[in-house]
Amino acid sequence: KDKSTVSITVVGASGDLAKKKIFPALFALYYEGCLPEHFTIFGYARSKMTDAELRNMVSKTLTCRIDKRENCGEKMDEFLKRCFYHSGQYGSRENFAELDKKLKEHEGGRVSNRLFYLSIPPNIFIDAVKCASSSASSGIGWTRVIVEKPFGRDSGSSAALTKALKQYLDEDQIFRIDHYLGKELVENLSVLRFSNLIFEPLWSRQYIRNVQLIFSEDFGTEGRGGYFDNYGIIRDIMQNHLLQILALFAMETPVSLDAEDIRNEKVKVLRSMRPLQLEDVVVGQYKSHTKGGVTYPAYTDDNTVPKGSLTPTFAAAALFIDNARWDGVPFLMKAGKALHNKSAEIRVQFRHVPGNLYNRNFGTDLDRATNELVIRVQPDEAIYLKINNKVPGLGMRLDRSNLNLHYAARYSKEIPDAYERLLLDAIEGERRLFIRSDELDAAWALFTPVLKELEGKKIIPEYYPYGSRGPVGAHYLAARYKVRWGDLG
Ligand code: BG6
Repeated sequence: KDKSTVSITVVGASGDLAKKKIFPALFALYYEGCLPEHFTIFGYARSKMTDAELRNMVSKTLTCRIDKRENCGEKMDEFLKRCFYHSGQYGSRENFAELDKKLKEHEGGRVSNRLFYLSIPPNIFIDAVKCASSSASSGIGWTRVIVEKPFGRDSGSSAALTKALKQYLDEDQIFRIDHYLGKELVENLSVLRFSNLIFEPLWSRQYIRNVQLIFSEDFGTEGRGGYFDNYGIIRDIMQNHLLQILALFAMETPVSLDAEDIRNEKVKVLRSMRPLQLEDVVVGQYKSHTKGGVTYPAYTDDNTVPKGSLTPTFAAAALFIDNARWDGVPFLMKAGKALHNKSAEIRVQFRHVPGNLYNRNFGTDLDRATNELVIRVQPDEAIYLKINNKVPGLGMRLDRSNLNLHYAARYSKEIPDAYERLLLDAIEGERRLFIRSDELDAAWALFTPVLKELEGKKIIPEYYPYGSRGPVGAHYLAARYKVRWGDLG
């Protein structure tokens, strides 16, 4: 029997992330039997709330994913009974000391392990870490803190944040979350590369023409303008989610699957990258658009956004890794809000077949005949490889088809939410999917100069209609590197 206990405190319990992601993920882990036998969950926030009110709030967002799963209601009741609330200021040692007292009562003298999930704005981050670590950390067990981005706004502020955090915590207590690393298909990247003979030999400049990392959302910043305007899409999506995928995609084979070995390889890739140049970036911002009688707002119509804001809601960028494997291969990123669809994908376009016997069958459009590997991270997860084949019948007509691993068709089990995997890893002390401070430094080093330039020169974004495919500048940028965005067909 396990003599230890895990106490999970969600700091910022009434916030959006806590309600939409953290509590539901904890429940899913409980439902699946993944949480330790002895665990307690505390919500911590400033507002006054009773345990019952917290449970009521949390219960609204809990689901068993697939309706009518066995014992779902029963499991929910059990789970909610293990959730409690403590009201306190984020910068108050006394309030965290009161929490400590309550946690101790629940722990009942067992070895206590404590996980704090900081789901609060960056300006109160350090105060909360200071108070939690001094007044409510575990005596004999472990204490870990999960922190959410933004990790600063640039190299300088990020380094200052890291320095401040390290006054109170060791690096191995800090779990910097990038929820894209918890997505099933992102985790599968390394399985695809390193456990299949057929991909790894092709994974270099010799066979790969370009790599595309594409993120799009079909809604704007509705309601989040206040946060977003201070960051913009480059800091919100590219510097973290897309860059993390790139690092996993492009890294050398790690010595082992150990967290440190993997992160060592990722950081090497990030440090081999050329700082992004202004001419390799296109920025855009959505403007209002009327379609089918409905008018969709412009970014600056959001009343939490300052009038005349130049913050990009779209960006495209060309990045390069100056090492032997990837010399000269463009890695193109594209990320935008209020576009025509919601999707995240990785596209790998292979080189032309040298001396292709069938060139004439493709007419003038040889680019279309190259193989392309698509990893659709979401929605409708899939991995498919575009190949050329003969159309059956007399004569010789060629066609493109997909060799397709379509997750919904292949597996009946639902794919867990990224937060489930990451929370479980944090409880188990698995650091593989969390960002180490040197990775963070390298990521900021890549983007900081161009962000300063964009903001210093007050570069005007290219305006694109809400619900469109984004600014045309993204096509020109790709065309400069002889690339066509794969998601446009
Ligand atoms: C967050 C960004 O990190 O990721 C949001 O701050 C974005 O702006 C979100 O909407 C997208 O996550 P997902 O998992 O819905 O693709």
